[in-house]
Amino acid sequence: MSTTVTDPIDRLLDAAQSGKSLIKNRDVLHFTHIPDLILHRDPEQEQLTQSLIPILMNSRPSNLLVYGKTGTGKTLVIQKVLSKIQKRVEEGSFPIKLAYTNAKQETTLYGLLVSFGRQLGLSGQKTNDEKMWLPSTGLSISEVFNRILYVISKHETNAVFVIDEIDYLAELIQKTGKDVLYQITRANERLETGSLTLIGVSNDLTFKERLDPRVISSLSEEEVVFTNYNLNQIKQILNARIQVAFSEGIVEDAALNLCSAMASRESGDARRAIDLLRVAAEIAERTQSAKINEEHVRKASQKIEENKEIVALKSYPLHEKLLILAVMKSSEISTGETYMTYKALCKEIRQKELTQRRVTQMLSEIEMSGIISGRIVHQGTHGNTKKFKITISPDIIKETFKDELALQDIL
Ligand SMILES: Nc1ncnc2c1ncn2[C@@H]1O[C@H](COP(=O)(O)OP(=O)(O)OP(=O)(O)O)[C@@H](O)[C@H]1O
Ligand SMILES: [Mg+2]
Repeated sequence: MSTTVTDPIDRLLDAAQSGKSLIKNRDVLHFTHIPDLILHRDPEQEQLTQSLIPILMNSRPSNLLVYGKTGTGKTLVIQKVLSKIQKRVEEGSFPIKLAYTNAKQETTLYGLLVSFGRQLGLSGQKTNDEKMWLPSTGLSISEVFNRILYVISKHETNAVFVIDEIDYLAELIQKTGKDVLYQITRANERLETGSLTLIGVSNDLTFKERLDPRVISSLSEEEVVFTNYNLNQIKQILNARIQVAFSEGIVEDAALNLCSAMASRESGDARRAIDLLRVAAEIAERTQSAKINEEHVRKASQKIEENKEIVALKSYPLHEKLLILAVMKSSEISTGETYMTYKALCKEIRQKELTQRRVTQMLSEIEMSGIISGRIVHQGTHGNTKKFKITISPDIIKETFKDELALQDIL
């Protein structure tokens, strides 16, 4: 055998090049992939299509609220319905515009409206017709909205705005106090020609409660609810993905069953099931296993959990990190002791400590995230105290914090 076989880099590159990688079609396991086949969602596809059909007959569909938990196929189904209608729009000559935006990806209300405006044909460059111009900054929100209505009227368009993850928009609105949703849902009263329909999509089932009641009533003229997938449905969805992503026999039945069971036990979330499978496949590949088995799925689940913890840990500001370290340094620690340890850590790294009151508040916030857990301990005549301990491995915490310069000396 040549030396390339023993060289670890060449060995991996050779395997990849000779097509011996476990995963035949990696893209299919990526979250952006849109599968050809949508299983177990016929009624939802029908309801959505039904409610949009008026637009093909040149009248205005009802506003619509779509909700259901994460990973239940809302975005997938909406995208498919929109693209099918879009195709017919392009073939015929309907004055229809379907515009889609995800409120989570927009950081400002202005940005979200600009995204819609551009999809309707408003220009980023100055035009002869001032009202057809939509600069990326500088106008007031109400002027942006006026221009959107102007282009709809001018072209006599029936426009549909889909706002995916609309709960994030509800947050933006609460922050700015500008009720764009109200304006959008009532836009038709201001339009003499053309129409505007709003479809809101949310996985936060409580988000409605945060809206103005006037918005709720007009936004949910119709509702489509996506229920959680059950175990069998998840299994079939996953199996369909496996058929495309892997060659026959690569994924053991036991692994498929475990992925499905884990995903359906937690939430009936198809995304979770697909993520588990992808990470399991990557682990199997890295260990040069010929198949994907239950053990790989277990490791995948662990790794996904760890990643979530790491992301949460990293996102904390310095003083929260110091508190986590203070709790980590003993097996169980009271609020008062945590404060003392925290103060000592602050001194060591020359940071001014925060007040005990603030620290107590921060501890409850960290407790809510699940990184530390607290229990009330009765201390006889001394009353009650809360004792904290960390719920994740100190190694993960140290590994995650070691990149932060300020903390390096105290890990
Ligand atoms: N019925 C299905 N058939 C095939 N794949 C599905 C099905 N439902 C969901 N998926 C896949 O599961 C993943 C999650 O689906 P989707 O993004 O549509 O969820 P969602 O309901 O929009 O979740 P979120 O509320 O988190 O945005 C996607 O990769 C999607 O392709
Ligand atoms: Mg979605």
